[in-house]
Order: sequence, then structure tokens, then C-alpha cells
Amino acid sequence: MNQLKLILMLTAFVILASCKENPATPTGTVTEKAMVVSAREEASKIGSDIMEKGGNAFDAMVATEMALVVAYPFAGNLGGGGFMVYRKADGEVGALDYREKAPLSAHKDMYLDSLGNVIPGKSTLGATAVGVPGTVAGIIEVHKKFGSLPLEEIMTPVIALAERGVVVTANQEKRLASQRDKFIEVNTDSTKFATVFKTNDTIKYPALANTFRSIATYGRDGFYKGEVAKKLATFIQEKGGYVTEEDLEKYQAVWRDPISFDYKDLHIISMSPPSSGGVTINQIFKMMEKHDVAKLGHNSPKMVQLFTEASRRAYADRNYFLGDPDFVEIPYDRLLSDEYLTERMANFSFDKATKSSEVEHGNIEIVESMETTHYSIVDQEGNAVSVTTTLNGAYGSKLYSDELGFFLNNEMDDFSAKAGVPNMFGLVGAEANSIAAEKRMLSSMTPTIVERDGKLWMVLGTPGGSTIITAVAQTILNGYEFKMSMQNAVNAPRFHHQWLPDMVIFEPDGFSAELKEELKSKGYIINEERTPIIGKVDAIRVLANGKLEGGADKRGDDAAVGF
Ligand code: DON
Repeated sequence: MNQLKLILMLTAFVILASCKENPATPTGTVTEKAMVVSAREEASKIGSDIMEKGGNAFDAMVATEMALVVAYPFAGNLGGGGFMVYRKADGEVGALDYREKAPLSAHKDMYLDSLGNVIPGKSTLGATAVGVPGTVAGIIEVHKKFGSLPLEEIMTPVIALAERGVVVTANQEKRLASQRDKFIEVNTDSTKFATVFKTNDTIKYPALANTFRSIATYGRDGFYKGEVAKKLATFIQEKGGYVTEEDLEKYQAVWRDPISFDYKDLHIISMSPPSSGGVTINQIFKMMEKHDVAKLGHNSPKMVQLFTEASRRAYADRNYFLGDPDFVEIPYDRLLSDEYLTERMANFSFDKATKSSEVEHGNIEIVESMETTHYSIVDQEGNAVSVTTTLNGAYGSKLYSDELGFFLNNEMDDFSAKAGVPNMFGLVGAEANSIAAEKRMLSSMTPTIVERDGKLWMVLGTPGGSTIITAVAQTILNGYEFKMSMQNAVNAPRFHHQWLPDMVIFEPDGFSAELKEELKSKGYIINEERTPIIGKVDAIRVLANGKLEGGADKRGDDAAVGF
């Protein structure tokens, strides 16, 4: 009898444990050992091939990041910056900040006119918007610390891709067409991108291949010093911008401690300031943790309410307290303490919406887009790398160096040009994110890694400006609380709220009229205009049997490749 009881108990335990584990049958690409998921198949393949040749996830990061410059110039970049979060197979975690910086000549009022008003376009279009690029310093730093293959070997297939060229997809044709007038306005009509490129055309990048060769041979000095640096600084200044050779030479990527926290039985590791991503998802998750989220139901009215109210409070804190940690004191202890977060949610009720004006003040517009890019990598040893990289806007400032073969960022717009005036993502900043020489602008990029029961479980991130943080949080909840496969968790419809403006936005498909009516009756303001997509998540889930499931967002040309 006792034996029977024991067997029954053990069976029940195994069933419970496996339910907890998210048994969802994979619906995305599954591989045995290693995988890269990125915005373009060409880039995922180059990263995966590097691992197949014996390289690790860090070598693959260098290859993928560089391949995206060729295959996805919309956001992949040499002229921008990014963040990486890693978890090595032995459990060691860390983060690299290769975010752009304000040039040495930058100052608080640089985008204001004589009356103190923000000059439209100055921080978003053309050379004046360009921050000091960080990407090359980032990849070289990663390679120096963790790389296992020689840099030249990693760069070889990337250089070949630049020379061979990349086939234009239908999505790319649309993106290029929508920005063509601006390319011409900023660069004149002699620029490469004045050309009308159609689906199935091949775009080759011989000038970029030469810049890659310089990096492959001389490492960071091949970009930040010497001929490339001189050409780059001269070009930016001729176009009216501020970046000098000294700015380039002084640029350094910085290793940072990631933000790590527990949510139920997950351990979440994400990017620390100068990105707001980690702190803000930490706050959102902790404000939700007391609730049985799975029971509320995926994208149910109550789940949308709870998530929205947590986001409202977290974004209000983000905009006020966060900035470059090398310049501002961030009160992490208080912001992330259970006591403070419980207090923040004390006035939350499922009966009616909290008003953002009761949380703080402001009046702004929101714009969503997806011009950044994220990729996730797991290698055959179990090392994981999560990277989000950006030029900020679509093709950054649109400034394109035909001589060097790449676009330059408009990341300066991520600063708060004037307290209380929203940037292009509708984010209102405060003093903590004001402009200063050599300061890094606050970001929302949220490259994230999730452990479950102490083991690697998920690697994810997304573009989407201010919507990045909520898209990452919802994807984790989809996998954990709602037990979706990785691919389904990534594809599921998303919604977003960011405190100001005081409205909830929904992707057009996947949310019923009844749901929106119910929320309206409780005082939520719903943005009913056709909303473009929210985020474009690229993720990997480690399955119970150790295989990997990719989640390549259906919203783009994204692809999972591995072996
Ligand atoms: O760092 C940031 O938060 C922004 N520069 C990211 C921009 C982005 O995601 C563009 N796509 N929406």
C-alpha cells in the first residue's frame, strides 16, 4: 500500500514538475546544439556557421553583428551602438555597454533655439544628430575577452557577404522606398541609396567590405584611429555634425553589472543603465508577482490592466530617475525594493484605471517603430548571448558615408533635449537624461536572458523604442505564465503602455472589440488608430531535452538558423 502511495505521489510530482516546465510543443525551428535568431537569414547563417566551425557564442556575436550591417542596414550598424547581456555555460553573467556617447563639444542646450525651443529635426536628421559610434569597440571588446577564433577568420564570411551582396526582400523594398527622399535630402542624389531598389535586386557593398578589412586587420584602431577615423570625422563635420577624431579615439565600451532579479521561479538577467530596460522590467515584474497571472488569462482584460498599471508606474520612474550611471546617481536600492514597489501598486484596483496624471504630469504623443534590431545566440557549450543594437531611427540619421559604406546613428535624440519635451518615442525626460559632453543617452534596449531552476531557459530581446521593455516582458510571460512555445510567445499579439501618453495601444489583430470596450468602461484610454507592429522579438528557448527552439518574429524577415 505504502509503495502504491509512493508511486502515485511520484507520478503526481513528475506531472506537476513537467507542467511547471512549460511542456508546449515547439512551433519554431528546433536544433540540437546551437542557434542564432536574427533579423535576416543571411546574418543568422553566418553566425551559426562560425559556431559550426568551432567558434563560441561570442565569436558568433561578432559575426552576426557585422553581417547585419550588410544584410539589415535599416538597423544593423557600424555607425551606431548597442548592449549585450551574456550568460556563460558555467552560469557567469555580465553585460557590455557599447552605447553611443555625446561628442566632446556637446552641451545641454545644443538642440534649442535662442528662445529655448527644441529645433525640429536637429537631433533626428543628418549629421547634427550623430553620437559617437560604439559598435566596433563593442565587438572588439567581446572578442578580446571571450573570443576563440581569430578576428580575421570571423570577418572573412562577412567581407564576402558585403562583396557578394544581399538580395532585397519585399519588406526591405518598402523600408528603403519610405526613406528615399530623406536619404537624398541628407546626402544629395549621388548617394548609393538614391537608387530605387526593388525586391530581388542585389545590393553590393564594396566600400563597406574595405572598412571591414581595416577592422579585421587592425581591430578597434582600424575604425577609431587612422584612415577610417579621419574619413569618418571629416565627413560628419563637413555635413555640419560634431563628432571629431578625438571623440572617436576616446570612445570605450564599458563592462557593466547586469540587472538581475527573481520572478516566481525564474531568474531574469537584463541590461543595466544607461539602458532603462533592466530596471523597468524588474519593476514591472515585481509589481505583478503577487498575482496569479496565469489564472487571469493571456491578454484578458484583467491581465492587460495589471500589466498596464505596473508599466504606468515603472515608466514614470524610468523617465525621472534613469540616465547614464557615470553621470547620475540612480537610487537602485529604493527603486527595486519590495517595499517601494508594493507602495507604488497600493492604489491599483481592477475596478478602474489609475490616471497617469495622478502618477506624474505630462502631455505627449507616442510613436512606435522597430528600427533597432535584436539577435539571440546559444552555442554548443551552452553559452548564451543576447544583443540589441541600433542606429535609433530607420537608417539612423539617414547620413550615409558612401566612402566607408555605412549609415550613421541619430542616437542624440535619445537624450532629453529639453526637460518635459518628448523625444521621437514620446518619452519625456528629466535632468537625469539631459545632454552633456561624453555622456551616454538613456536607452530602452532590453537584451535579456532568463534562467529557470538555475538553468538557461530563454534568450530574448526586440527593437521598438519605448515599446521594447513591454514586448520583452510580455514574451517572457507568454512562455512562463501562459506556457506557449517560443515561436508562439514571440508571435502573440502585443499591447503597450508607457505612463505618458495616458493610453494603451494594441496591435491591430488579436484583441477583441469586447476587450477594448471593457477596458474603456474602466477608464482606460485606448489608442484606436491603426497601430503598426509592437516590437520584433528574436528569441531562443532551451527545451527540457536540451534542444533549442527558435522564436523568429513573424512580423519581419527574421530567421532562426542552427545545427
Ligand atoms: O536605445 C533606445 O531605446 C532607442 N534608440 C531604440 C530605438 C529603437 O528601438 C528603434 N526602433 N523602434
